[in-house]
Amino acid sequence: MEIFHISAECYPVAKVGGLADVVGALPKYQCNAGHQVRVIMPCYDTKFRTENQFECVHWGNVTLGHFNFPFSVLKQIVDELGFELYLIEIPELFDRKQVYGYQDDIERFLSFQIATLDWIVGRAEIPDVLNCHDHHTGLIPFMTLYCHKYAKLRSISTMITIHNGLYQGQFGFDKLYYLPPFDLEHVKLLEWDNCINSLAVAVKCAGGVTTVSPSYLNEINYFANGLESLFNSVRSKSRGILNGIDIEVWDPAKDVMLAKNYSLTTVQKGKQENKNKLCSLFNFDPEKPLFSFIGRLFDEKGGDLLPEAASRSLNAHYKSINILILGSGNEVIEQQLNGLLTEFEGNYNTFIGYNEELAHLIYAGSDFILMPSRVEPCGLNQMYALRYGTIPIVRRTGGLRDTVIDFGDDGNGICHDQASADDIVYSIGRAVDLFQDKKHLNQLIKKAMQTDHSWERVCQEYIEMYNLIISHNES
Ligand code: GLC
Repeated sequence: MEIFHISAECYPVAKVGGLADVVGALPKYQCNAGHQVRVIMPCYDTKFRTENQFECVHWGNVTLGHFNFPFSVLKQIVDELGFELYLIEIPELFDRKQVYGYQDDIERFLSFQIATLDWIVGRAEIPDVLNCHDHHTGLIPFMTLYCHKYAKLRSISTMITIHNGLYQGQFGFDKLYYLPPFDLEHVKLLEWDNCINSLAVAVKCAGGVTTVSPSYLNEINYFANGLESLFNSVRSKSRGILNGIDIEVWDPAKDVMLAKNYSLTTVQKGKQENKNKLCSLFNFDPEKPLFSFIGRLFDEKGGDLLPEAASRSLNAHYKSINILILGSGNEVIEQQLNGLLTEFEGNYNTFIGYNEELAHLIYAGSDFILMPSRVEPCGLNQMYALRYGTIPIVRRTGGLRDTVIDFGDDGNGICHDQASADDIVYSIGRAVDLFQDKKHLNQLIKKAMQTDHSWERVCQEYIEMYNLIISHNES
């Protein structure tokens, strides 16, 4: 089968969050399974772009209403990522350091989608499936169906994979003229709440909808930033497919970013050496349990609960636990977290920003990983933590509910139900008790490391879903 993944992010080309990890891994495993897979993404001004070689395979002009932007399609010469990578280069809109966060993001991602289809429609071979990811590529299923210039693509099967339904890519109808011409009788499909809503368009028009975990699929029926009723109405074409992790990149036995590699049989010693390194970097005593948070500091991830939960836990167990925060996001949360530094020096530290290498060391060297998310479509950190023998402490939501079971129920982690500082403090208390019970803890660590979250199985579920969409399309 020929599959195109169209996405704003792909690791290691450009990463903001988990979307990149998924789009950097799933295609590789689909290729291994014998499919022809390509990833198409915008060409940002990144290190990856300058350090790798590309050839230009197509060029043209994207028309966005009365604007015109020259673009080219660059193909990576060596497929070292395990799939073919294509970058859509639109210098005026994408020759920038960041992936998102610009005033013209709507124009940028709309141009990206149009340029992608302009190129695909001109190819001799039409792919079987376009797998779009999140709202940045959400107008593609509409455009292939209804825009006159893409008539050749009408029979193509499209699927939207939702990594985060809170972000929807809304814009006003004053920009309707950006879209290539289509029959106005279909204009209603673009509308949600008086706006053009890219994610809603994808959900309405794509042949299939997937979310990145089964529980998240249930949750978006009552919590989806205004799209609840829409998700309810498309249940028959929707499926929740739990993400995997790239066990080649995330392998404590081979990870070059660690102070010491380890496997199931050497985990105690290996983790201790990584913990020693981490503790020397952050001024902690390695004898004490280390709780870490890695991620974006937003309410969605429970970031706003961390300052209170950390200070209350540190007070309750003062001098006997360590807490480390790695992340950035909401400035108020960042300031509140940094505000605790002096009071708890030696037991608490922060690294505001992101550092992939440090993240790997934290997964290996921590005892517990905190994930107090309010919303978590899948969550990958708990899976990385499990693989590195680090016990996740999670709020039961979305993919966290599907991957972490409380150790009291013979599971692999620690769970609570409420997104509250109270629940986090309580879970940390349970973890401190567990840390004293070394025999039990070591059993749990081994169990955690044996949890299978590899992509092989997941990859097959994607193929089944594509086949289902294709067969519906043909009938
Ligand atoms: C988004 C979601 C996260 C998910 C990731 C990959 O970042 O917030 O839960 O794991 O996408 O699908």
